[in-house]
Amino acid sequence: MFISIAPMEGVFDFVTRELLTSIGGYDQCVTEFIRVTTQLLPDKVYYRYCPELKTGGLTKSGVPVFVQLLGGDPNLLAENAHKAHELGAPGIDLNFGCPAKTVNRHDGGATLLKNPERLFNIISKIKSALPEDATVTSKVRLGFTDKSLCKDIAQASCSAGAAKLTVHARTKVEGYKPPAHWEYIALMKDNVKLPVVANGDIWSVEDYLRCVEISGCKDIALGRPAFAKPDLALQIKAAINKTDNSPLSYKQIIEKQFLPFGKMSEDYKDEKFAINRSKQWSKYLGRTYPEFESLFQTIKTEHSLEAIRQHTLNSLN
Ligand SMILES: Cc1cc2nc3c(=O)[nH]c(=O)nc-3n(C[C@H](O)[C@H](O)[C@H](O)COP(=O)(O)O)c2cc1C
Repeated sequence: MFISIAPMEGVFDFVTRELLTSIGGYDQCVTEFIRVTTQLLPDKVYYRYCPELKTGGLTKSGVPVFVQLLGGDPNLLAENAHKAHELGAPGIDLNFGCPAKTVNRHDGGATLLKNPERLFNIISKIKSALPEDATVTSKVRLGFTDKSLCKDIAQASCSAGAAKLTVHARTKVEGYKPPAHWEYIALMKDNVKLPVVANGDIWSVEDYLRCVEISGCKDIALGRPAFAKPDLALQIKAAINKTDNSPLSYKQIIEKQFLPFGKMSEDYKDEKFAINRSKQWSKYLGRTYPEFESLFQTIKTEHSLEAIRQHTLNSLN
Protein backbone atom coordinates (compact mmCIF):
# COMPACT_ATOMS: atom_id res chain seq x y z
CA MET A 1 0.00 0.00 0.00
CA PHE A 2 1.26 3.44 -0.97
CA ILE A 3 0.04 6.65 0.65
CA SER A 4 1.17 10.02 -0.61
CA ILE A 5 0.51 13.51 0.66
CA ALA A 6 -1.38 15.14 -2.22
CA PRO A 7 0.00 18.50 -3.36
CA MET A 8 -1.80 21.53 -1.91
CA GLU A 9 -0.80 25.03 -2.93
CA GLY A 10 -0.67 27.38 0.06
CA VAL A 11 -0.79 24.42 2.47
CA PHE A 12 1.78 21.67 2.00
CA ASP A 13 5.05 23.54 1.88
CA PHE A 14 8.48 22.47 3.13
CA VAL A 15 7.54 22.91 6.81
CA THR A 16 4.27 20.98 6.65
CA ARG A 17 5.89 18.20 4.65
CA GLU A 18 8.65 17.87 7.21
CA LEU A 19 6.24 17.74 10.16
CA LEU A 20 3.69 15.37 8.63
CA THR A 21 6.29 12.93 7.35
CA SER A 22 7.91 12.88 10.81
CA ILE A 23 4.74 11.18 12.09
CA GLY A 24 5.14 8.31 9.60
CA GLY A 25 2.81 6.47 7.25
CA TYR A 26 3.48 8.62 4.19
CA ASP A 27 5.48 7.21 1.27
CA GLN A 28 5.72 10.30 -0.91
CA CYS A 29 5.07 14.04 -1.01
CA VAL A 30 4.58 16.41 -3.93
CA THR A 31 5.46 20.11 -3.94
CA GLU A 32 2.91 22.85 -4.52
CA PHE A 33 2.52 23.38 -8.27
CA ILE A 34 5.21 25.38 -10.04
CA ARG A 35 3.76 27.30 -12.98
CA VAL A 36 5.71 27.08 -16.20
CA THR A 37 4.52 29.78 -18.59
CA THR A 38 7.26 31.51 -20.57
CA GLN A 39 10.72 30.44 -19.53
CA LEU A 40 13.15 27.99 -18.08
CA LEU A 41 12.84 28.86 -14.40
CA PRO A 42 16.02 29.63 -12.45
CA ASP A 43 17.38 27.19 -9.87
CA LYS A 44 16.27 29.44 -7.01
CA VAL A 45 12.60 28.89 -7.89
CA TYR A 46 13.05 25.13 -7.57
CA TYR A 47 14.93 25.47 -4.30
CA ARG A 48 12.22 27.78 -2.95
CA TYR A 49 9.39 25.33 -3.70
CA CYS A 50 11.45 22.30 -2.84
CA PRO A 51 14.21 23.00 -0.29
CA GLU A 52 14.47 19.20 0.00
CA LEU A 53 16.42 19.27 -3.30
CA LYS A 54 19.38 20.22 -1.09
CA THR A 55 18.98 16.99 0.88
CA GLY A 56 18.68 14.48 -1.94
CA GLY A 57 15.03 15.27 -2.65
CA LEU A 58 14.01 13.72 0.68
CA THR A 59 12.32 15.14 3.76
CA LYS A 60 14.25 14.78 7.03
CA SER A 61 12.38 11.51 7.60
CA GLY A 62 13.55 10.18 4.23
CA VAL A 63 10.31 10.57 2.27
CA PRO A 64 10.80 11.51 -1.42
CA VAL A 65 9.37 14.82 -2.62
CA PHE A 66 8.28 15.00 -6.26
CA VAL A 67 8.36 18.39 -7.98
CA GLN A 68 5.01 19.30 -9.53
CA LEU A 69 4.92 21.30 -12.76
CA LEU A 70 1.88 22.99 -14.26
CA GLY A 71 1.62 24.36 -17.81
CA GLY A 72 0.54 23.61 -21.36
CA ASP A 73 3.69 23.98 -23.48
CA PRO A 74 5.37 20.57 -23.94
CA ASN A 75 8.81 21.97 -24.86
CA LEU A 76 8.94 24.43 -22.00
CA LEU A 77 7.69 21.83 -19.54
CA ALA A 78 10.32 19.37 -20.79
CA GLU A 79 13.09 21.94 -20.32
CA ASN A 80 11.90 22.66 -16.78
CA ALA A 81 11.43 18.99 -15.95
CA HIS A 82 15.01 18.43 -17.10
CA LYS A 83 16.19 21.18 -14.78
CA ALA A 84 14.24 19.78 -11.80
CA HIS A 85 15.66 16.35 -12.53
CA GLU A 86 19.21 17.70 -12.73
CA LEU A 87 18.72 19.44 -9.39
CA GLY A 88 17.90 16.07 -7.86
CA ALA A 89 14.12 15.77 -7.86
CA PRO A 90 13.19 12.09 -7.21
CA GLY A 91 10.35 12.52 -9.71
CA ILE A 92 8.32 15.00 -11.72
CA ASP A 93 4.55 15.17 -11.22
CA LEU A 94 2.33 16.94 -13.74
CA ASN A 95 -0.70 18.93 -12.69
CA PHE A 96 -3.70 18.35 -14.95
CA GLY A 97 -6.28 19.12 -12.30
CA CYS A 98 -5.98 22.70 -11.10
CA PRO A 99 -9.42 24.37 -11.40
CA ALA A 100 -8.28 27.99 -10.85
CA LYS A 101 -9.67 30.36 -13.49
CA THR A 102 -6.40 32.26 -14.05
CA VAL A 103 -4.45 29.03 -14.40
CA ASN A 104 -6.99 27.54 -16.85
CA ARG A 105 -7.14 30.79 -18.86
CA HIS A 106 -3.37 30.56 -19.30
CA ASP A 107 -3.57 27.03 -20.65
CA GLY A 108 -2.65 25.13 -17.50
CA GLY A 109 -4.21 22.64 -15.10
CA ALA A 110 -7.63 21.08 -15.68
CA THR A 111 -8.26 22.82 -19.02
CA LEU A 112 -5.89 20.29 -20.65
CA LEU A 113 -8.30 17.48 -19.76
CA LYS A 114 -10.59 18.70 -22.56
CA ASN A 115 -8.10 17.20 -24.99
CA PRO A 116 -6.35 14.08 -23.65
CA GLU A 117 -3.98 14.12 -26.62
CA ARG A 118 -2.39 17.15 -25.02
CA LEU A 119 -1.60 15.12 -21.90
CA PHE A 120 -0.02 12.51 -24.14
CA ASN A 121 2.10 15.11 -25.95
CA ILE A 122 3.28 16.77 -22.74
CA ILE A 123 4.17 13.57 -20.91
CA SER A 124 5.89 12.06 -24.00
CA LYS A 125 7.94 15.18 -24.56
CA ILE A 126 9.05 15.24 -20.93
CA LYS A 127 9.86 11.52 -20.96
CA SER A 128 12.02 11.97 -24.05
CA ALA A 129 13.91 14.88 -22.42
CA LEU A 130 14.83 12.84 -19.33
CA PRO A 131 16.98 9.75 -18.79
CA GLU A 132 14.99 6.54 -19.14
CA ASP A 133 14.96 5.81 -15.41
CA ALA A 134 13.55 9.23 -14.44
CA THR A 135 10.06 9.07 -12.95
CA VAL A 136 7.24 11.13 -14.39
CA THR A 137 3.76 10.93 -12.87
CA SER A 138 0.44 12.47 -13.80
CA LYS A 139 -2.32 13.93 -11.60
CA VAL A 140 -5.74 14.36 -13.16
CA ARG A 141 -9.42 14.88 -12.47
CA LEU A 142 -12.22 12.87 -14.12
CA GLY A 143 -12.70 15.50 -16.81
CA PHE A 144 -13.42 19.18 -17.27
CA THR A 145 -17.21 19.60 -17.56
CA ASP A 146 -18.21 15.94 -17.63
CA LYS A 147 -16.66 12.49 -17.19
CA SER A 148 -16.99 11.24 -20.78
CA LEU A 149 -13.24 11.41 -21.47
CA CYS A 150 -12.06 9.80 -18.24
CA LYS A 151 -10.81 6.59 -19.89
CA ASP A 152 -9.00 8.58 -22.61
CA ILE A 153 -7.37 10.71 -19.92
CA ALA A 154 -6.06 7.59 -18.20
CA GLN A 155 -4.93 6.01 -21.46
CA ALA A 156 -3.12 9.17 -22.57
CA SER A 157 -1.11 9.22 -19.33
CA CYS A 158 -0.35 5.51 -19.57
CA SER A 159 0.67 5.31 -23.23
CA ALA A 160 2.89 8.39 -22.88
CA GLY A 161 4.89 6.59 -20.19
CA ALA A 162 3.73 8.04 -16.88
CA ALA A 163 4.85 5.83 -13.98
CA LYS A 164 1.74 6.51 -11.89
CA LEU A 165 -1.61 8.18 -12.28
CA THR A 166 -3.27 9.96 -9.38
CA VAL A 167 -6.97 10.57 -9.91
CA HIS A 168 -8.89 13.20 -7.96
CA ALA A 169 -12.34 11.72 -8.42
CA ARG A 170 -14.19 14.84 -9.55
CA THR A 171 -14.45 16.94 -12.69
CA LYS A 172 -13.15 20.48 -12.75
CA VAL A 173 -16.72 21.76 -12.65
CA GLU A 174 -17.44 19.70 -9.53
CA GLY A 175 -14.66 21.61 -7.78
CA TYR A 176 -14.38 20.16 -4.28
CA LYS A 177 -18.07 19.41 -3.81
CA PRO A 178 -18.76 16.08 -2.08
CA PRO A 179 -19.07 13.28 -2.91
CA ALA A 180 -15.94 12.15 -4.74
CA HIS A 181 -16.89 9.69 -7.53
CA TRP A 182 -14.54 6.80 -6.75
CA GLU A 183 -16.43 4.47 -9.12
CA TYR A 184 -14.93 6.34 -12.09
CA ILE A 185 -11.44 5.61 -10.81
CA ALA A 186 -12.25 1.91 -11.20
CA LEU A 187 -13.27 2.54 -14.83
CA MET A 188 -10.00 4.32 -15.52
CA LYS A 189 -7.90 1.75 -13.70
CA ASP A 190 -9.39 -1.13 -15.68
CA ASN A 191 -8.27 0.52 -18.90
CA VAL A 192 -4.60 1.05 -18.15
CA LYS A 193 -1.53 -0.89 -17.07
CA LEU A 194 0.06 1.67 -14.77
CA PRO A 195 -0.48 1.98 -11.00
CA VAL A 196 -3.46 4.20 -10.20
CA VAL A 197 -3.71 6.21 -6.98
CA ALA A 198 -7.16 7.15 -5.69
CA ASN A 199 -7.72 10.65 -4.31
CA GLY A 200 -10.58 12.68 -2.93
CA ASP A 201 -12.49 12.72 0.35
CA ILE A 202 -10.71 9.90 2.18
CA TRP A 203 -11.19 11.34 5.67
CA SER A 204 -11.04 8.17 7.79
CA VAL A 205 -10.09 4.49 7.88
CA GLU A 206 -13.73 3.69 7.02
CA ASP A 207 -13.57 5.97 3.97
CA TYR A 208 -10.35 4.24 2.92
CA LEU A 209 -11.97 0.80 3.07
CA ARG A 210 -14.98 1.99 1.06
CA CYS A 211 -12.72 3.69 -1.47
CA VAL A 212 -10.69 0.48 -1.97
CA GLU A 213 -13.89 -1.46 -2.52
CA ILE A 214 -15.32 1.01 -5.01
CA SER A 215 -12.19 2.17 -6.87
CA GLY A 216 -10.19 -1.06 -6.68
CA CYS A 217 -7.14 1.03 -5.64
CA LYS A 218 -5.17 0.28 -2.50
CA ASP A 219 -2.86 3.21 -3.18
CA ILE A 220 -4.16 6.62 -2.18
CA ALA A 221 -3.25 10.29 -1.92
CA LEU A 222 -4.46 12.39 1.03
CA GLY A 223 -4.82 16.15 0.73
CA ARG A 224 -7.14 18.01 3.13
CA PRO A 225 -7.65 14.92 5.31
CA ALA A 226 -3.89 14.72 6.03
CA PHE A 227 -3.98 18.36 7.14
CA ALA A 228 -7.02 17.75 9.35
CA LYS A 229 -5.78 14.43 10.78
CA PRO A 230 -1.97 14.34 10.54
CA ASP A 231 -1.69 10.68 11.57
CA LEU A 232 -4.37 9.40 9.16
CA ALA A 233 -1.87 7.48 7.00
CA LEU A 234 -0.56 5.70 10.11
CA GLN A 235 -4.10 4.89 11.21
CA ILE A 236 -4.95 3.41 7.81
CA LYS A 237 -1.77 1.34 7.66
CA ALA A 238 -2.28 0.09 11.23
CA ALA A 239 -5.86 -0.96 10.42
CA ILE A 240 -4.75 -2.84 7.29
CA ASN A 241 -1.73 -4.47 8.92
CA LYS A 242 -3.70 -5.16 12.11
CA THR A 243 -1.08 -3.48 14.26
CA ASP A 244 -1.62 -1.33 17.34
CA ASN A 245 -1.88 2.38 16.85
CA SER A 246 -3.49 4.94 19.12
CA PRO A 247 -4.51 8.12 17.34
CA LEU A 248 -2.45 11.14 18.37
CA SER A 249 -4.05 13.12 21.19
CA TYR A 250 -4.62 16.90 21.14
CA LYS A 251 -1.63 17.31 23.47
CA GLN A 252 0.62 15.25 21.22
CA ILE A 253 -0.41 17.21 18.14
CA ILE A 254 0.27 20.46 19.97
CA GLU A 255 3.69 19.38 21.21
CA LYS A 256 4.96 17.48 18.18
CA GLN A 257 3.31 19.40 15.36
CA PHE A 258 1.50 22.65 16.06
CA LEU A 259 4.03 24.47 18.29
CA PRO A 260 7.05 23.49 16.15
CA PHE A 261 5.00 24.51 13.08
CA GLY A 262 4.75 28.16 14.20
CA LYS A 263 8.47 28.48 14.87
CA MET A 264 9.52 26.59 11.73
CA SER A 265 7.17 28.63 9.52
CA GLU A 266 8.62 31.84 10.96
CA ASP A 267 12.16 30.62 10.24
CA TYR A 268 11.10 29.52 6.74
CA LYS A 269 9.51 32.90 5.85
CA ASP A 270 8.48 35.43 8.48
CA GLU A 271 6.20 36.03 11.47
CA LYS A 272 3.16 37.18 9.45
CA PHE A 273 3.34 34.04 7.34
CA ALA A 274 3.65 31.89 10.48
CA ILE A 275 0.64 33.58 12.09
CA ASN A 276 -1.57 33.08 9.03
CA ARG A 277 -0.50 29.49 8.60
CA SER A 278 -1.07 28.72 12.30
CA LYS A 279 -4.62 30.08 12.05
CA GLN A 280 -5.21 28.11 8.85
CA TRP A 281 -3.95 24.86 10.35
CA SER A 282 -5.84 25.22 13.64
CA LYS A 283 -9.05 25.64 11.61
CA TYR A 284 -8.41 22.43 9.64
CA LEU A 285 -7.40 20.52 12.79
CA GLY A 286 -10.73 21.58 14.32
CA ARG A 287 -12.37 19.01 12.02
CA THR A 288 -10.73 16.26 14.09
CA TYR A 289 -10.06 17.87 17.45
CA PRO A 290 -12.82 20.01 19.05
CA GLU A 291 -10.08 21.67 21.17
CA PHE A 292 -8.61 23.14 17.99
CA GLU A 293 -11.96 24.64 17.09
CA SER A 294 -11.89 26.59 20.38
CA LEU A 295 -8.23 27.45 19.92
CA PHE A 296 -8.94 28.82 16.44
CA GLN A 297 -11.69 31.07 17.85
CA THR A 298 -9.21 32.39 20.44
CA ILE A 299 -6.28 33.04 18.09
CA LYS A 300 -8.05 34.16 14.92
CA THR A 301 -7.68 37.86 15.76
CA GLU A 302 -4.17 37.66 17.23
CA HIS A 303 -1.32 39.50 15.52
CA SER A 304 1.71 37.99 17.22
CA LEU A 305 3.14 34.50 17.13
CA GLU A 306 4.05 34.71 20.81
CA ALA A 307 0.40 35.39 21.72
CA ILE A 308 -0.65 32.38 19.64
CA ARG A 309 1.97 30.28 21.41
CA GLN A 310 0.70 31.37 24.83
CA HIS A 311 -2.95 30.64 23.97
CA THR A 312 -1.87 27.26 22.63
CA LEU A 313 0.00 26.39 25.82
CA ASN A 314 -2.91 27.62 27.97
CA SER A 315 -5.28 25.36 26.06
CA LEU A 316 -3.41 22.36 27.46
CA ASN A 317 -4.39 23.22 31.05
C1 LIG B 1 -6.11 24.52 -1.03
C2 LIG B 1 -5.83 23.46 -2.07
C3 LIG B 1 -4.69 23.53 -2.84
C4 LIG B 1 -4.43 22.54 -3.80
N1 LIG B 1 -3.27 22.63 -4.54
C5 LIG B 1 -2.97 21.64 -5.46
C6 LIG B 1 -1.74 21.67 -6.19
O1 LIG B 1 -0.88 22.54 -6.02
N2 LIG B 1 -1.54 20.67 -7.10
C7 LIG B 1 -2.46 19.66 -7.31
O2 LIG B 1 -2.23 18.79 -8.15
N3 LIG B 1 -3.61 19.62 -6.60
C8 LIG B 1 -3.87 20.57 -5.68
N4 LIG B 1 -5.03 20.48 -4.94
C9 LIG B 1 -5.90 19.29 -5.06
C10 LIG B 1 -5.50 18.21 -4.04
O3 LIG B 1 -4.23 17.67 -4.32
C11 LIG B 1 -6.51 17.03 -4.03
O4 LIG B 1 -6.56 16.49 -5.32
C12 LIG B 1 -7.93 17.48 -3.62
O5 LIG B 1 -7.89 18.33 -2.50
C13 LIG B 1 -8.83 16.27 -3.29
O6 LIG B 1 -8.22 15.43 -2.34
P1 LIG B 1 -8.54 15.50 -0.75
O7 LIG B 1 -10.02 15.27 -0.58
O8 LIG B 1 -7.68 14.41 -0.19
O9 LIG B 1 -8.17 16.87 -0.27
C14 LIG B 1 -5.33 21.46 -3.98
C15 LIG B 1 -6.48 21.40 -3.18
C16 LIG B 1 -6.74 22.36 -2.23
C17 LIG B 1 -8.00 22.25 -1.39
